[in-house]
Amino acid sequence: MAETFEHDVVVVGGGGAGLRAAIAVAERNPELSVALLSKVYPMRSHTVTAEGGAAGVIKSNDDLETHCYDTVSGADWLADQDAVEILVNDAPRQLIQLEHWGCPWSRERDGSVAVRSFGGMKNQRTWYAADKSGFHMLHTLFQTTLKYPTITRYDEHYAAKLLIEDGRCGGVAALDLRTGSMRAITANSVILATGGAGYVFAFTTNGAIKTGDGMALAYRAGVPLKDMEFVQYHPTGLPGTGILITEAARGEGGIMLNRHGRRYLQDYDLGQPLEVTDPRHPQNRMMELGPRDRLSQAFHYEREKGNTFKMEEFEDVDAVHLDIRHLGEKRIDERLPFVRELCRDYQGIDPVHEPIPVRPVVHYTMGGIDTDIDGRTALPGLYAAGECACVSVNGANRLGSNSLVEILVFGERAANTATEEAGELKRPNPDALRTQAKDEAKRIQQTLLNGANANGGVRPAHVRNKLRKVMEAGCGIFRDAGTIQTACDALAELSEQAARMTLDDHGGAYNTQLINALEITGMLEVASAMAHSAHARTESRGSHQRTDYPERDDAQFLKHTLAYRQEAAAPRIDWKDVTITRWPPGERTYGR
Ligand code: FUM
Repeated sequence: MAETFEHDVVVVGGGGAGLRAAIAVAERNPELSVALLSKVYPMRSHTVTAEGGAAGVIKSNDDLETHCYDTVSGADWLADQDAVEILVNDAPRQLIQLEHWGCPWSRERDGSVAVRSFGGMKNQRTWYAADKSGFHMLHTLFQTTLKYPTITRYDEHYAAKLLIEDGRCGGVAALDLRTGSMRAITANSVILATGGAGYVFAFTTNGAIKTGDGMALAYRAGVPLKDMEFVQYHPTGLPGTGILITEAARGEGGIMLNRHGRRYLQDYDLGQPLEVTDPRHPQNRMMELGPRDRLSQAFHYEREKGNTFKMEEFEDVDAVHLDIRHLGEKRIDERLPFVRELCRDYQGIDPVHEPIPVRPVVHYTMGGIDTDIDGRTALPGLYAAGECACVSVNGANRLGSNSLVEILVFGERAANTATEEAGELKRPNPDALRTQAKDEAKRIQQTLLNGANANGGVRPAHVRNKLRKVMEAGCGIFRDAGTIQTACDALAELSEQAARMTLDDHGGAYNTQLINALEITGMLEVASAMAHSAHARTESRGSHQRTDYPERDDAQFLKHTLAYRQEAAAPRIDWKDVTITRWPPGERTYGR
């Protein structure tokens, strides 16, 4: 029998959105017990790697309207504008709250909170803690959760299945990684905050934990995944590892150079270089501070023109330079110490003295679990927030530094809804939930652990490596019907192989190969939703650039895609209207 732990609310995911959600439940109703479950120790969640900062209007020369407009136009009008308004209006309050909880935001000389420029934002509004913003935010949130006795942590627990009874979600079946035993963690409300799915691509800034687990859990439970075709490439990753070199480097005044030493972004309708040395000068704000989709596309065109250089040490990948030398050692050490550290440790160069080689790298999944503006999904009792969810504030292209506030605003918001509704629905029968967890343990035992596929099976790592290469080749910065179809076919074949995965480790304690196998099954489903959604959207918008349909087509496609899972078949793709409130669709202009 699976061991059972009863709570009122279960939060799955110990990153920024999950921690913020757990705090919100504890504060809103101290009577409720909260389970906070994470497949890693929470301080290892991917939020820790966020560097540049979090956007929120705070200075007198900025305003909410402009933040909304930047977000909506940056999203190529695919964001839901009611959600954007909530994000922008609530962002300053959330960031001040974090300050009160101890987040060490960087300061101006006069002691006020410092803000920096970020891509696609017309005004300076990105709060930062040097270039370790995510690290400090995660610490702040984690230590705040420790104040609340109602929060019980289940570290190193992998959520294998949602427990569903009487048409509502009533908890999760989770593997305790330390022992391999299955536990039923039951509750009236379950909040998924498991992060994105960038790891389904071969070259990514995302850690190996970002395998789309929450998306796959919801998808299998019949909840649609929204806008999955929109995957963001960040223009500046280190060429060998994919490690992020933060946009803050450009926010502080860094410039992009091709192999001829030209600031090539002036050729892509993103503005002209001015003889202005202060990067905060209002006329000098685009170019390198254009939105990520446009900058990543510009790299591709430079490569086609032969203007990139090859890096022999990394199988001849192409790269350009990000140059921050003119900022000087003092400013680099003060504002970008982590950039310097990463360049030294992983690239063997010192950016104080040499330009940094960079290339575009998969960074963020705009799509995710379809939720309403209060975090509800289509399944009663199930809520979602953060990168695993699509509320949607990011549309076809997220602006840098909006996601660190999204996790706060919508983490709290989903938690408030889950808290209110925890008492409204009848509690599912615990025996039925326990039986489901036991059945899941049996399924895993029979399909993966007992060695049934020992002859003729494939290793999980083989499937995963192929999957990641397939996505990179078929659904990259530019795609067309042919590349996407090739990806869809390859994914179908890999899914058949995945059904025959063979493990070398059949034990219980820390069986990471087993966890990988479970993750891979979900990664394949998430990747299939991405590829089939990309196939259905025959237009180009934001990060989804179809060479066979190069224009944006609002008449047909000012709509969200919804991918519904179908048993042993390709997903069914449906469409949902975008919410437009105050900003009718227009042209995205950055250079004019
Ligand atoms: O470049 C960066 O620091 C990334 C920030 C973000 O994705 O929001």
